[in-house]
Amino acid sequence: MTNLSQPLIKGLHHVTLITSSELVNRRFYTEILGLKRVKLSVNQDDIFHRHLFYGDEKGSSGSVVTFFEWPHLSEGRAGLSSPHHLAYSVKNLDALQKWASLLKNKGVYVSRPYSIGDRVSIYFRDPDGVLLELTCRVDDEVDLQFLTEIFSEESSINSISSDMRLKYMDHASPIATDATILERFLQKILGLRRISKIENPHDPSSIILGIGVEEDDFLGYIVSPVVRVGSIGVGSIHHIAVKVMDEDEQREIMRILDTIGIIHSGIVDRFWFKSLYFRDPFGNLLEVATDGPGYTVDEPPESLGTRLVLPPWLESERKKIEYNLKLLDSRHKVMWPPNYPPTPEMPERVN
Ligand SMILES: [Fe+2]
Ligand SMILES: [Fe+2]
Repeated sequence: MTNLSQPLIKGLHHVTLITSSELVNRRFYTEILGLKRVKLSVNQDDIFHRHLFYGDEKGSSGSVVTFFEWPHLSEGRAGLSSPHHLAYSVKNLDALQKWASLLKNKGVYVSRPYSIGDRVSIYFRDPDGVLLELTCRVDDEVDLQFLTEIFSEESSINSISSDMRLKYMDHASPIATDATILERFLQKILGLRRISKIENPHDPSSIILGIGVEEDDFLGYIVSPVVRVGSIGVGSIHHIAVKVMDEDEQREIMRILDTIGIIHSGIVDRFWFKSLYFRDPFGNLLEVATDGPGYTVDEPPESLGTRLVLPPWLESERKKIEYNLKLLDSRHKVMWPPNYPPTPEMPERVN
């Protein structure tokens, strides 16, 4: 049984979403959000479509967001089995204000600042409609009206200063309908505990349950008794991966899944890490991924993500893969800058 004082899970590993266009996706996550492309590969379960990875300089786990490029899918919808949003941490309120200005100056629709628990957040959508949050912790209560005025002031910020760098994900937010079932499940399988429970100021019918290891690295489940079923498509979160240090820890989680009788994928070698997939009781796809060997196993850190790399077992298919990716690009013309989707008034609302 998992030792709760030392949980096997060490935090978020990566979050995988769906984009309709490699080009627009790359320009947004690298040029606008300042992340680095740390791997350019293909979806190992669908090898004629790309898998894109962005993160910090080395692609450290916890910093990486990845995308399947599936232009043929229709738009996804958040709900049960389709997580709601993803949040990156920023250093402080000053950095958050700079982000609000920069995003507005780039044509992105940005929400006003919101206060949730001990945090202040802004929300916006990426070109495919993914709801993103930038959040920072604050020590004292904030005067939201004053903050809103400050955040709405015009500014000429057009580039990312060092204090603005996005370093790691703060939380990812799936949706559930029952807090007790959820907590029991995540505690039993992953040894995770509740770290916060707050009323959802955006939606009185729901609560936000922080479950994880650290207070700035967690699953921020939105729990509401009545939620529609979601659908996976362009602009949705496909799955959320949490981190274990090695395969022994991963096998221990697989053993617990087997003991309880939960269907899982078995351990899958993704070359840059090993993966184990299963669903929570509310249909959300979760992955337990090993910390290593990491994205630098086949490329030096300075040239990470600069060329199409394939795991060794797909090298024999390279020509066919490159031909099909070209074909894919020729069929899908894209536009930059994109027409950004609007941001909802109450961003963390699920009903
Ligand atoms: Fe959030
Ligand atoms: Fe994954």
